[in-house]
Amino acid sequence: MECTAAGPGSGGGEAGSLAEVLRGRPPMARELPSFDTGRAPDRPGPLFEEWLLGAVRAGVPDAQVVTLSTVDADGRPDARVLVLRDVDAERGAWWFAADADSPKGRQLAATPWAALTVYWPALGRQVRLRGRVETGGAEQAAADFRLRSPAARIAVLVGRQSERLDGDAELADAWREAEAVLDRDPQTVAPSHTLYAVVADEVEFWQGDPGRRHVRLAYTRNPDATWRRGLLWP
Ligand SMILES: Cc1cc2nc3c(=O)[nH]c(=O)nc-3n(C[C@H](O)[C@H](O)[C@H](O)COP(=O)(O)O)c2cc1C
Repeated sequence: MECTAAGPGSGGGEAGSLAEVLRGRPPMARELPSFDTGRAPDRPGPLFEEWLLGAVRAGVPDAQVVTLSTVDADGRPDARVLVLRDVDAERGAWWFAADADSPKGRQLAATPWAALTVYWPALGRQVRLRGRVETGGAEQAAADFRLRSPAARIAVLVGRQSERLDGDAELADAWREAEAVLDRDPQTVAPSHTLYAVVADEVEFWQGDPGRRHVRLAYTRNPDATWRRGLLWP
């Protein structure tokens, strides 16, 4: 690829130093685990659990944080990180919680398809999955909400996520009001708090190799809910 005046390697003097810093930091330049695809299970859920727990054991910070990608009404992609709440390994469903009134909630209501991506740096492992998004029931959402810390519940009750904020004072007022609501009735549940499941139809496990011979195993769901799997070129 040719570099433009504003592109990588173009900058002289101090401006060039960021590209140099980036070039000097090749990813995955460390010892990484192997991935014996011949021993992979016949469905992706159990392998995801194994990799996630492996990342937790390896001390990866926030190993349960994943990137959720959605599309907006114009078909433009949008993405943000959030916490994985659970995995139904049998069914192949990945659960997360979000506000139905947030941009992502509205995007999912209009286009109930999403991708989840996670990278665990210490292990050089990435998982990518895509599928249809289902919404959990009100009882399930309420149970999840009540298990949250008071601060997390207040944050959801405050609402208006991703709207323009005029200033700290406005937020402080809304926070106090939400606190008072929770004080009056600790069983209060934010009605827009929602559990979502990405019911995956494609899941890829990617094991990085410092020598660039990455190992990739892709699962695809069959119409009868079994899975077929195969290797991908790196
Ligand atoms: C580590 C981390 C965890 C997060 N967890 C959640 C989460 O579980 N649910 C959520 O809605 N937002 C979570 N967020 C905030 C989202 O990244 C995002 O800012 C917010 O949901 C608004 O997204 P939207 O405007 O696309 O709706 C988290 C952010 C970080 C950095």
